[in-house]
Amino acid sequence: MCGIVGYTGGKSAISLVVAGLRRLEYRGYDSAGVALTDGQGAPLLVEKRAGKLANLEAALTSTFSQSTSGIGHTRWATHGGPTDSNAHPHLSGDGKLAVIHNGIIENYIELKEELLKKGHKFYSETDTESVAHLLSDAVADSGGDLATAMRNVCKKLKGSFTLLAVHSDNPEIIVGARRNSPLVVGVGDGENFLASDVSAFISSTKRALELGQDEVVVVTPNSILVVDLEGNVLTPKEYEITWDAAAAERGGFAHFMLKEIFEQPKAISDTLLGRIDETGVVRLPELDLLNLDVERILILACGTAYHAGLIGKYAIETWSQIACDVELASEFRYRRPVLSPKTLVITISQSGETMDTLMALRYAKSLGAKALSICNTHGSTIPRESDAVIYTHGGPEIAVASTKALLTQIIALHLFALHLSVKKLSPSDLEKIGNELLALPSKVEQVLETIEALREMTRGFKDATSVLFLGRHVGFPSALEGALKLKELAYMHAEGFAGGELKHGPIALIEEGTPVIAIMPPVGSEIREKMASNIQEVKARGARIILVADTSIDIASADHVIRVPETHELLQPIISIVPLQVFAYEMALLRGNDVDQPRNLAKSVTVE
Ligand code: AGP
Repeated sequence: MCGIVGYTGGKSAISLVVAGLRRLEYRGYDSAGVALTDGQGAPLLVEKRAGKLANLEAALTSTFSQSTSGIGHTRWATHGGPTDSNAHPHLSGDGKLAVIHNGIIENYIELKEELLKKGHKFYSETDTESVAHLLSDAVADSGGDLATAMRNVCKKLKGSFTLLAVHSDNPEIIVGARRNSPLVVGVGDGENFLASDVSAFISSTKRALELGQDEVVVVTPNSILVVDLEGNVLTPKEYEITWDAAAAERGGFAHFMLKEIFEQPKAISDTLLGRIDETGVVRLPELDLLNLDVERILILACGTAYHAGLIGKYAIETWSQIACDVELASEFRYRRPVLSPKTLVITISQSGETMDTLMALRYAKSLGAKALSICNTHGSTIPRESDAVIYTHGGPEIAVASTKALLTQIIALHLFALHLSVKKLSPSDLEKIGNELLALPSKVEQVLETIEALREMTRGFKDATSVLFLGRHVGFPSALEGALKLKELAYMHAEGFAGGELKHGPIALIEEGTPVIAIMPPVGSEIREKMASNIQEVKARGARIILVADTSIDIASADHVIRVPETHELLQPIISIVPLQVFAYEMALLRGNDVDQPRNLAKSVTVE
């Protein structure tokens, strides 16, 4: 939900800001803009354009290359459509101050009314423009001090925001502030960066500072000052970014999504590394921070991360015998939930910034629950506000559609479930599961080796109007994930159903030729025969069946069979979801869609 970059130093700001925006474009891509300072008192250089970053780049003239300080924004529209005038930055009336914003200013209407009464003019339909006018008034009130002005304005704002502002009177200074939206500082040598996430400056520095809630940061080329809203000086935590710039590049792949699909074996290995051995013994020292006297587990997450939770629930309950519920984070706090002190809340989030999940976490904590997060982004808000965190080691996920993050989230849940169950499972069961987990990277590789066949098969369904996904047990949330991927990438009607639910309504959707992708439980599963019957039921009504099945199964009734390696039943989604990702990817390509930046979406959803 909007990407933000600021640079101040000795180099050409425009190239670094635009390079940063390119890395952040996954956060929003309906318009983009920059504001650069150009020497003491000289007017700001501002350009903004509706559409993707390329439109902005085409509009930039050579005058922009002189400046060594500036800010840039790539937008996912909330208030006001994606037009040039609604694009950020927004300017003060005198044109001396520019501001960019990620989030939502909830009280912008009343602020705007007051500003209109004072004579300010508005040129956009955004909530952000009010901040530009408020800041310019506050700068005047504070004798030209942009940092003090920012602190005072933040106190008046309700909602969520990351804000960056520049003023032409102080061309080397960028002031930032954050509440409920992400902002990190990149610490350079004679230069400093501000950004929504570290990928924006990873090519220049690996040193980053975490900023907390309601903190204001003032950067110049040689200084970084962090204060709270009262002006008290704070000492932010510095950390080193552990991945390199190449991880945030496409590296020869046509799309980030394809690269990330192929990175899954490594992402799984990295997430398992040092945490489990062949005897199935798990080492998660992160959990020492929690008192794991747990009677109930509640998993909260959104979208694909929610599906990870639904899948993890089976292993948690089966192995540990502790009750586990999974709920959409966006629904949780509005139903007045009841949590006992022995409830452990687990939030799952790739970005660590999803607003629905963050708000659910805060609400759960306010009810006294202990909170564990499973997260892929170091230092992001959700792990910072949790009592403990299991980081997944998936590396940066740039494509909007989540792939490797999901598989590593499921792995983290399996590790957590084993950790809880060490006294409940026999040594031989532990060993069997441990070995199966360790074998998953190579099994996912085997699935990826069949990509040509998957591509060919997908072509046969190009003109379908609707695709149904069917599963039982862990296959059901896998089916939900297959449908979500197809919706978001191919813009097709797709739905996931539990096999047993078909007869309660959804079977009416089946007509001659309807594609049904069914995930077959392995041999020995108690629901295998029932799933086989469900497949027959849709086949009898004319469905075209694509079966995802392991090599142990002899199949007659399917139109297509996607063979996947055998594994433990509870681990099966790690393998069976991979072909569904490829199916959605290929279908999106066949339909001419933008795979990495699907319409209307953004990677990090920082609004409720
Ligand atoms: C799925 O492909 C999506 N990108 C989306 O559902 C995503 O999983 C969801 O928005 C949650 O994001 P998070 O993991 O960063 O919290």
